[in-house]
Amino acid sequence: MDDRILDGKKVAAAIRGEVAGRVAELGKRGVVPRLDAVLVGDDPASRVYVGSKARTCAKLGMASETHHLSGDAPQEEVEALVDRLNADPEVDGILVQLPLPDHLDTHAVLDRIDPAKDVDGFHPVNTGLLQQGRPALVPCTPAGIMEMLRREGIPIEGRRAVVVGRSDIVGKPMAMLLLHAHATVTLCHSRTRDLAGVTREADILVAAAGRLAIIGPEHVKEGAVVIDVGIHRITDRSEVERLFPGDAARMERFESKGSVLAGDVDFVRVAPLASRITPVPGGVGPLTIAMLMANTVRAAAARRGH
Ligand code: GUN
Repeated sequence: MDDRILDGKKVAAAIRGEVAGRVAELGKRGVVPRLDAVLVGDDPASRVYVGSKARTCAKLGMASETHHLSGDAPQEEVEALVDRLNADPEVDGILVQLPLPDHLDTHAVLDRIDPAKDVDGFHPVNTGLLQQGRPALVPCTPAGIMEMLRREGIPIEGRRAVVVGRSDIVGKPMAMLLLHAHATVTLCHSRTRDLAGVTREADILVAAAGRLAIIGPEHVKEGAVVIDVGIHRITDRSEVERLFPGDAARMERFESKGSVLAGDVDFVRVAPLASRITPVPGGVGPLTIAMLMANTVRAAAARRGH
């Protein structure tokens, strides 16, 4: 593989290996880390994510349980479930799959999770600890990106980092982690003026806007490290041809599956400029679940005094 490609699958496998070792250690002391997922409704993507989290737990020797509530479950029912999981000493990590159906108050549900079991790092206590640079459970996607940068020996201190996208799940915690690693950080969003002018300053550019191919060559300085958090399923043939011209393998995948995945970065046009770049799929995606497992083991060890 082109050695400029940042291989998230490889880094995720290394993290999972270390987590499995830690699980085995805890096992000797009678502790089996357990992750409980709460899934409300039948969003197909959410079902896939939750299923894959449960399978990864099993592979690493961890316990897991999925609690599936109907799409019209009232707020009280979801909160009562969270209360029950908070009170269950066997449960180390609680993950409420987002997005929740519109009738539910997401903040009220997340605020109810015991911060010590909040393996997504979405509770305001963990968000506040992260902001202050104190030990916390950190959201998995940005935590995974920091792990990848560290393991790949990409320097951060003193460099310019630009994050595009200000979500609570990725953009904001990503900016905070880069800041604590001593980067000079700029956080851009949909109302940023002259986006390309700002992103061209970046030594490290993190695209987490949730918009297909929003980052083109005009946004990237030569030699930048480009991290693509976006994941979009393209079902339109002309879009595949536009983004991946002459890519026979990708077209073949499109013909057989009816879709291909692409990110927030126009990979074909940006890759020649970048010193390192994550692909989609196989870049940031695999890191997120690996870090969820790492957070769960950490929560188990901390809660149970190991
Ligand atoms: N939906 C999209 N990303 C995430 C995530 O990291 N955690 C949860 N719980 N839901 C999500």
